[in-house]
Amino acid sequence: MRITENKIDEIRNAADIVDIVGGYVQLRKRGKNFIGLCPFHQEKTPSFTVSDDKQIYHCFGCGNGGNVFKFLMEFKNISFVESVEEIAAHLGIKIQTEESTGDQQNELEVFYDINVIAARFFLEHLTKSAEAEEAREYLKHRKIKPQTQRSFGIGFAPFGWDNFLNHAKQNKIDLVKAKQLGLIDTNERGEYYDKFRARIIFPIFSPNGRVIAFGGRVLQNADNVAKYLNSPESQIYFKRKSLYGLYHSKDEIRKLDRAILVEGYMDLVSLYQAGVKNVVASSGTSLTDEQIQLLSRFTKNIFVLFDSDSAGQKAALRSIELLLKQNFEVKVITLPKGEDPDSFINKFGKEQFDEEVTSAVNFLEYQTSQFELQGMFEDPAEMTKAIRELVRTLALVNDELKRNLLMKTISKKFNLREKLIESELNAALLQNKTKVETQASKQFFRSEESAAESKLTLPVVHVNQNPNEKELLRLLFSGDEKIIGYIFDNVAVESFVNTNYMKLAELVHDGWNEEKFSPADLVEKIESPELKNFVMKLSLNDEAISKKWDDLAFNGKVEKDTFEHAVETVRSFQIFQIEDEIKRNNKIISESKDELLHIELLQRNRELQDDRKAMLNLKANN
Ligand code: GTP
Ligand code: MN
Repeated sequence: MRITENKIDEIRNAADIVDIVGGYVQLRKRGKNFIGLCPFHQEKTPSFTVSDDKQIYHCFGCGNGGNVFKFLMEFKNISFVESVEEIAAHLGIKIQTEESTGDQQNELEVFYDINVIAARFFLEHLTKSAEAEEAREYLKHRKIKPQTQRSFGIGFAPFGWDNFLNHAKQNKIDLVKAKQLGLIDTNERGEYYDKFRARIIFPIFSPNGRVIAFGGRVLQNADNVAKYLNSPESQIYFKRKSLYGLYHSKDEIRKLDRAILVEGYMDLVSLYQAGVKNVVASSGTSLTDEQIQLLSRFTKNIFVLFDSDSAGQKAALRSIELLLKQNFEVKVITLPKGEDPDSFINKFGKEQFDEEVTSAVNFLEYQTSQFELQGMFEDPAEMTKAIRELVRTLALVNDELKRNLLMKTISKKFNLREKLIESELNAALLQNKTKVETQASKQFFRSEESAAESKLTLPVVHVNQNPNEKELLRLLFSGDEKIIGYIFDNVAVESFVNTNYMKLAELVHDGWNEEKFSPADLVEKIESPELKNFVMKLSLNDEAISKKWDDLAFNGKVEKDTFEHAVETVRSFQIFQIEDEIKRNNKIISESKDELLHIELLQRNRELQDDRKAMLNLKANN
């Protein structure tokens, strides 16, 4: 039986963990929490803690912990669903009957089933029917091997208006649903007819391998028919959220930690067949934010490879912008004029293709070369425009360190003073409404990797971990939305130096953006047992401010003062950041001989000192 997410939320929100656990374990109040003897291991002094406001339990002795459902699962050795049911019964909440919850799922299953029947129909037709000889010849001519056809489920939609229609009727398919899936349509007289006729069929799979839609290519290009016909959006197909080929390529993408993005079905199939398996296609639509988000589950490194025609290059530039905004590492592959990935790999083979990948350039070099091709650098006015455009793209890079390095690349390339580009960049950043956190600046912190990429030689200095990180994290897991909002307004997730802390902060940040949000849910999402334990300890820890809490509880000022504590912590965090940057700058000054850099850094340090003074004043006035 499936219980809907909404129902589970409702039950969890209504349940009181102290009440439920208290039914099995003797609890007594200590500070904000309740403690008792752990039911999961033998102990004489209580280390089993239950938090009323966070609705979680945790044993500091054996590490067992979680939300109310987890407690029952562990205590009674029952499944998740059983624990939900038990708590629902205890609360008197009715869980919908099996049929009504099952229905929605079943309805979708009907759509998937129809698509499977259709895919099989097209495939059988391609391999078996005499009529499909032309299609088989066509695929042979395009060098798509039978084995590749099978693995991508490629088929052929017959000539004629009712072949699939009749097949659907024979199979008792719900025709209304088949129409919703775009397999058939109705004419003015209300009669059904086949949508896909005389086309090579590419089934489109979900990342889990279910057939969600189809793309169909004509056998012969003609001006009056669309070369490709795609299924419309339906209950199971969301164009903006699907990437062609991802089901086949996701493992390889994860393994290599990089993906190649192409435009077309044929490009993808041909590359895959040639052994380039880390490839996805946006297919028809220009790349969307949702597609990028989907891809980011597998990698953040992407090679954009679009047709060398002007439409392809325009699409590439648009896609690059979106990818940069989502923090992708973007490189661009440019093929010789007149070639697309499919024609290239068939003409030159995999080795040559791999070389093209190796010589991919970063997006700024790519954009620069595009402008160069357009002759923009011959005319001073055009050149200014081009540089502005480059800086605008640069401003999309969230990572300040990377941005600054790229800025230096531009200034070198065009022999411009860095300050000049910097002011352009700042204007562009403002325009993007991107938060520029001067205090969080890590502009001279460089990882080995980026040092290798750049020709500049700066000494490597390390950012020191901020001693306030842990307390900030604890506040983030407090679940108080006002405090979380304040912290994220003032501290960028990336400015946590400890990578584990950064991950946890990111988790809260993501959760906080969602509608429903509770610390208990967040804790459940942490995969690593060590981190989970760490957060439990952190958020159940009374010591940090509990004294204040208890004192203030009687004054009715609790909320205000916890908030003030958060403000103070954020300030201490920022002051440390500033001081650390000053130290780093001084180190660079002492190790580098670049005099211009010295001047810039000294200037920067003066600004930082001013910021620091202002902060300390604020703190003193508190
Ligand atoms: P081939 O000509 O078969 O090699 O395909 P291609 O991928 O080289 O075609 P093209 O570069 O013209 O188009 C790239 C992608 O854009 C295709 O794979 C389709 O996803 C999409 N596309 C192209 N033409 C059409 C069309 O007429 N209608 C729709 N909906 N999409 C199209
Ligand atoms: Mn092509």
